[in-house]
Order: sequence, then structure tokens, then C-alpha cells
Amino acid sequence: MHHRIEIMSGESGWRLARPLLNAVWPIDVVAQLPWKDIAWADADHRILVLDDHDDVIAHAGLHLRDAQLDAGPVRICGVGGVATRYDCREQGLAAALMRRAVTEMRDTHRADFGLLFCEPRHAPLYARLGWRAFEGEVYVEQPQQGRVRFAVTDPLVFDLRTSPREGALDLCGLPW
Ligand SMILES: CC(C)(COP(=O)(O)OP(=O)(O)OC[C@H]1O[C@@H](n2cnc3c(N)ncnc32)[C@H](O)[C@@H]1OP(=O)(O)O)[C@@H](O)C(=O)NCCC(=O)NCCS
Repeated sequence: MHHRIEIMSGESGWRLARPLLNAVWPIDVVAQLPWKDIAWADADHRILVLDDHDDVIAHAGLHLRDAQLDAGPVRICGVGGVATRYDCREQGLAAALMRRAVTEMRDTHRADFGLLFCEPRHAPLYARLGWRAFEGEVYVEQPQQGRVRFAVTDPLVFDLRTSPREGALDLCGLPW
């Protein structure tokens, strides 16, 4: 199978990725998940893997965020919504997406570090790609609640200019 990777704005990418994302996270499935009530940020950019028919078979959203670590400014590039179409899994597509995400966050967006959140069962995939556990506390904004601790999934960091492992990390906005 031939495939290609494209990067799009969050909004145009959403239109193309919507069938995949709705199939991977249907409303009734999300309703059972620990993060069902979380309000998520929209991605600023999207990395898409397309097949020969121009169907999106894998997706990752990129989130650029001026955040604070222990009250000091940090520029984060977040990765969220990593998903591969069911029939295309275990072929390295998510790994290819994540490698491209690192190139983008380092060379295009010049982030201090990358940040993603995942369930423990997916951590080994990211660990093999160089992501490391962040052991500190993460704070985010949620509608009607203001600033709250975010602990439903585990934070992983990709070291770029800095290598944070602990401290109070305030995303200064919605999580991804
Ligand atoms: C998690 C998810 C994105 C992984 O996508 P994927 O494209 O299958 O991932 P990859 O193929 O890059 O890697 C998956 C596994 O296949 C293995 N693999 C990679 N290339 C392979 C190849 N050519 N042949 C066989 N196996 C391969 C990897 O080693 C990896 O093993 P692991 O599960 O032990 O870590 C996918 O399962 C998915 O969409 N899940 C539902 C949504 C979700 O939970 N997303 C995670 C959000 S954090």
C-alpha cells in the first residue's frame, strides 16, 4: 500500500480526518471512557496519512501552546488525537506520524518540548520513539471550572530545547 503524509491547518485537516476520527472514537464509545467529560482543544495543525484513494488512514493533531512550567514561560508543541484506521494498524503508520510530528515541533515550531497524553497501554509505543514520562503535575482550563488538575491520562515529554521531568506544568488552556 502506498501512502503519503500531509500537513494541513487544523480546520481543513478536520474535514478530511472526520470519518476516521468518528470511526475510532464514536460517541457511544467515548461515553464509556475516563475522559468522556473533558473539553478538548482544537488542533492548530493536523498531520494526515493518506492512501492511494486520498482517504485519511492515520491522523495526529498538533497543538502550539504558550504554557508555564513552575511559573516560567515554555513553548509547547502538543500531539493529540493519534489514530490509525483499524485495517491499517500495526504497519508503523502511527510511528511514522510521530516521527513527522517531532520534525515539525523541532524545526517548524521551535518548541521547547513536545507533550502528549496517553493511556498506560499505549506508552510503550511512544517510549520506543523517545518520549519520556513527565512526573510532575499538569493543570488545564475547563469550562465552568477554571484551572483544574489534569490526571485522566499520563503526560509524556519529547525533549527538544529542554527536558522537563517534574514541576507544575500549566497548559494555560484546554488539554489535548
Ligand atoms: C494506538 C494506535 C494509534 C497505533 O497505531 P498503529 O498505526 O497501529 O501504530 P504502529 O503500527 O506505528 O505501531 C503499533 C504496533 O505495531 C508494531 N509495528 C510497527 N510497524 C510494524 C510492522 N511493519 N509490522 C508489524 N508490526 C509493526 C509496533 O512495534 C507497535 O507495537 P506495540 O503495540 O507493541 O507498541 C492505534 O492502535 C489506534 O488508532 N488506536 C485507537 C486510538 C487510540 O487509542 N489512540 C491513542 C491515543 S494516545
